[in-house]
Amino acid sequence: MTQVINLRRATQADTSLVCELFEEQLHRTPNQGLISEALGNAPSALAFSNDKLVGFVYCAYMAPDIMEIMNILVTDTERANGVGTRMLEFVEEEMPPQVVSMMLANSSLYPDVKGGKLPATSFYIRNGYTVIADTGKTRIF
Ligand SMILES: CC(C)(COP(=O)(O)OP(=O)(O)OC[C@H]1O[C@@H](n2cnc3c(N)ncnc32)[C@H](O)[C@@H]1OP(=O)(O)O)[C@@H](O)C(=O)NCCC(=O)NCCS
Repeated sequence: MTQVINLRRATQADTSLVCELFEEQLHRTPNQGLISEALGNAPSALAFSNDKLVGFVYCAYMAPDIMEIMNILVTDTERANGVGTRMLEFVEEEMPPQVVSMMLANSSLYPDVKGGKLPATSFYIRNGYTVIADTGKTRIF
């Protein structure tokens, strides 16, 4: 049977929920203030399976017309089922009209990135994003 995944936008009240999944999956302490601000100020998406949080994406304004995707994560047991793509499409649809561009950084310099690889690159390319800068360790899309 196909798993039903429900999406909704987050509010600041979801900060603890997001931080718990962040810590569990990425094994580093999230910046709670930053996440709370992002959830309050910009489009976001939460994915639930049977009322359990299995993914999130939150954003911040880089400029009035450019949104940065600050973080996107799907719990490891739910990956490769389209949840990440659905969340990305959800936040893209939630963007206010003045936002004409979305950007994000994908870096191997974070401590949780295994083997220095950037596995999310294929995810962004598959979803229509292009690399606009590459330091060798960090890619900007
Ligand atoms: C990147 C991520 C959000 C994608 O979510 P997802 O639900 O697995 O994505 P989808 O199922 O919609 O798309 C799958 C595609 O993503 C890519 N992908 C990247 N990393 C992947 C992973 N660890 N597992 C599965 N697919 C992955 C593949 O290209 C895959 O395409 P394919 O099915 O043609 O092989 C998720 O893998 C994740 O949370 N990774 C760890 C955190 C991370 O790297 N976040 C990005 C920070 S910049």
